[in-house]
Amino acid sequence: MRGLAALAVVALLASAPAALGSSGGDSIVGGSPATPGDYPAQGFLTIDLDSNPNTFEAFCGGTLLGSTWFLTAAHCAYDGTPLASSRLRVRLGSVNWPSATDIYAVTAVDVDQAYSEATHANDLAMLRLQRPAPYPPARVVRLDEGARWASGTTARIVGWGATSSNGQNPSTSLLQADVPIRPDAVCSDPSSYGGDFDPSTMVCAGNGTADTCAGDSGGPLMVRDGADWVLVGVTSWGLGCNDLQFPGVYARLGAPALNRWVMDRHPRASFTAGPANTNQPTTFTSTSFYPPGAGSFTRFNWDLDGDGQFDDGSGAGAKWTFPTRGAHDVGLEALAPNGDRAVTRQVLGVNGSPAAVAGRYTVGEGRTVAMTGSGSDPEGNTLTYAWDLDRNGSFESAGRSATFSTLGIDGPATRAPLLRVCDSAGACSDDPATVRIVNVAPRANAGPDRRVRRNRRVRFFVRATDPGGDALTATWRIGRRTVKGSRVTHVFRRAGRYTVRVTVTDGDGGSTTDVVRVRVRR
Ligand code: ARG
Repeated sequence: MRGLAALAVVALLASAPAALGSSGGDSIVGGSPATPGDYPAQGFLTIDLDSNPNTFEAFCGGTLLGSTWFLTAAHCAYDGTPLASSRLRVRLGSVNWPSATDIYAVTAVDVDQAYSEATHANDLAMLRLQRPAPYPPARVVRLDEGARWASGTTARIVGWGATSSNGQNPSTSLLQADVPIRPDAVCSDPSSYGGDFDPSTMVCAGNGTADTCAGDSGGPLMVRDGADWVLVGVTSWGLGCNDLQFPGVYARLGAPALNRWVMDRHPRASFTAGPANTNQPTTFTSTSFYPPGAGSFTRFNWDLDGDGQFDDGSGAGAKWTFPTRGAHDVGLEALAPNGDRAVTRQVLGVNGSPAAVAGRYTVGEGRTVAMTGSGSDPEGNTLTYAWDLDRNGSFESAGRSATFSTLGIDGPATRAPLLRVCDSAGACSDDPATVRIVNVAPRANAGPDRRVRRNRRVRFFVRATDPGGDALTATWRIGRRTVKGSRVTHVFRRAGRYTVRVTVTDGDGGSTTDVVRVRVRR
């Protein structure tokens, strides 16, 4: 009974693990029986003080944080020095501890080096189980989740500890109760614990309707996270049990040093995702953690369609395209060769990408056309517009409207300037416009009108240009004669008035006719 003296001393503060005594008693004060399966991470820790492995002399609670990682209170695994792992056993998977058959040997005991037996500060120990437990581990609150456990929040306590202040024996069935998180000032008050309560490592909860008690130590103080629970404290100590003046005191997992200690000592699955827009791939990257030197996660499986099956991707990274906007439930399973398994889920808000309509346009060669695109966004977000007019990959023209110039383009032809519409969440959609460039006839100016004498040679010429840059042919009708060329000559044999026509034709069949009037004198 080597540890008894030390245990007896702290028992005055009700901070020691419950020792089995002769007085009757049953668990958590003011609790009700837990439904099997409601607290799958809850474990019953037996502590062998007399080296007879068939009996245990003290017990505690604890919480599974990884398949082989079990969090309890330091004082449950400490007797001046950390207890040998052979002294500890963990029962899981049953609300009724005596009938529990799933019993785990412990292979390592890690007591927080900052734990003080005298002050109960940093009352944390992590045990390593010999084989993986098949129950979903609990999640520890993150430092950025302070609002979840603000004072006044209703928290849940569970355990097999004593049901009254003078109770000794464990309850055979797991009990649960609700306790309000109390302001630090309440427990620091001289009428309560005064300076014995250290708000940098402890949080207190309970207002005399329910409390943890001897034997509940190491177990959880939890708050709601939707349908799940999040661990915010580890049952540590108190004066008596369920005394309005003296709330239960818990190791404060939301304190930076304690949080760091626990986070560094259990495997966790986590991932980042981005960007989450419909109709474009979202990249998922595992940021999972395994305590260095204790193993590693080597396999990752993804549930990206939200059906609960981790069969939508494997490896530390995955890609997925969401066809519909809104909330998507996605999950990651991380596996270690030693059998450790961690799972995490996230609800991803997928932004609906905007729709873009660039439009159809018809324009002549050598002209410009004003294009105006349109867009709509499922979330009604503000949209920005830009055009890649020359399709070189850069969107050089900002704004909903852009001017497309067909200068230097020989019609008929089509071009597809690209409209890009982006919403304020960063999702973009592209749509090519259809610009039909139609042929424009050349301009022709034959001239000038003239007076000539009969039987004299006269020159005609035409100036012509084509907006499409085509090669041009000029065809003249002079009397009954047809001649080709930009400069032609003719001899009129009779006096009179003549109309000379020149038709200039471009390479695409477009033509323009101009006339020259000639007066021939005798
Ligand atoms: N120290 C006790 C244990 O080892 C738990 C004390 C909790 N006491 C309280 N009043 N809430 O089991």
